[in-house]
Order: sequence, then C-alpha cells, then structure tokens
Amino acid sequence: MTKLIAIAGSLRAQSFNKNLVKIAAKGAEEAGAEVRYVDLADFAIPLYSEDLEAEGTPASVNDLKHLFAQADGILLASPEYNGSISGVLKNALDWLSRPSKDAEIGSAFQGKVAGIMATSPGGLGGIRGLAHTRDILFNLGVMVSPKQVAVGSSYQAFNSEGQLTDADMEQRVKALGAEVAAIAKQLIN
Ligand code: FNR
Repeated sequence: MTKLIAIAGSLRAQSFNKNLVKIAAKGAEEAGAEVRYVDLADFAIPLYSEDLEAEGTPASVNDLKHLFAQADGILLASPEYNGSISGVLKNALDWLSRPSKDAEIGSAFQGKVAGIMATSPGGLGGIRGLAHTRDILFNLGVMVSPKQVAVGSSYQAFNSEGQLTDADMEQRVKALGAEVAAIAKQLIN
C-alpha cells in the first residue's frame, strides 16, 4: 500500500496548518493511501549544530527520519514566517537531510513526491513561503506537485472543529492529497 507522511511546520497546539494537512491526508486516504500524521511537537528536535551531530544523531531525529524513510510521499503544510518557511520546519528539514551516522536509515526525501500547502490569517495564505518550501524540497530530491494550496484568512476559513468552512476549498485540499497518493503509487510500481 502507498504510504504517505503528513506533517505541519508548526509546533502550536491549535495550528491551522496542522488542520490543513490533516484534510489533505483525508483526501489521500480516500484515494487509497495509508497516511501517517506526525506532529512535529512530539519530537524534541534540537537546533541543528554540526558539533551536536558529531556526537551522534539525536534519537528524536532518527525517529522522525525513520517515519520519512518509510513513506513514499510527503504532505507538508508550512506556516509562513516573514515570507518564508518557519524556523522549526527548516531546522527539522536540515536534520533530516543529513546522513544518520549511527543508524541505517534510508533517505527522508530522495525520489519522493510531495504536496505542499499553507494557511495563514493574512489574505495570501502563506503563498510566498510555499515558493521557498518548494525550492528547498526540490533541492532535497523531492518531486513537488505543481498543485499547491494556500488558504487565507485562517480564523474564518476553519471552524472550531478544524474543518474548512468552504466546501470547494476542502475539495481542493483533498484533491492535492489524492494526487500525491496517486503519484506516489506510480513511483513505487
Ligand atoms: C507570522 N505570520 C505570518 N503570516 C503571513 O501570512 N505571512 C508572514 O510573513 C507571517 N510572518 C510571521 C512571522 C512570525 C514570527 C509569526 C509568529 C507569525 C502569521 C502566521 O501565519 C500565523 O501565526 C499562523 O497561524 C501560523 O501557523 P499555525 O501555527 O497556525 O499553523
């Protein structure tokens, strides 16, 4: 079965980006994929330092990298911070991009497909940050779907259950998840 990992680049408990990526994950599941939703807040990823890495890859990084390595594709919702991706997400991607010195773990990224999305309280929904997210993933060997979703006005766009209030937008987000599931399936066949 096609396996995807779904993750948001926010540690916030009430993160809109967590809500968003879960909707894309549902679309992927409806398309037949098995999706592992991962909360970055559950992994105490330290700030990257080559000195720290020289002492051995932190267990939290290896744990997260295992989950990425097992996945055929990635669903990623990235908050936009100052026109770019969040620091916690970039830090996690930097750690995951490194070869693990003390564990045999496959690549977190190489040859995988990703669907990227963002949401923010502003009108543009974090679309400027998505350009950077796409570029970073491309550099890591990830095929990023040309489709992407940026949902603006997040306080109005989501209801208290974390669902999108606009049915068309919900369909677009689910369709992105379904597309990533379909491409990942082709890649592993
Ligand atoms: C933001 N926010 C923000 N929003 C945006 O649309 N463009 C931006 O450049 C920024 N910059 C920014 C910088 C910093 C340091 C913070 C803390 C916030 C607002 C941001 O989109 C908002 O807090 C989101 O709700 C964060 O995502 P989660 O945590 O809801 O997923």
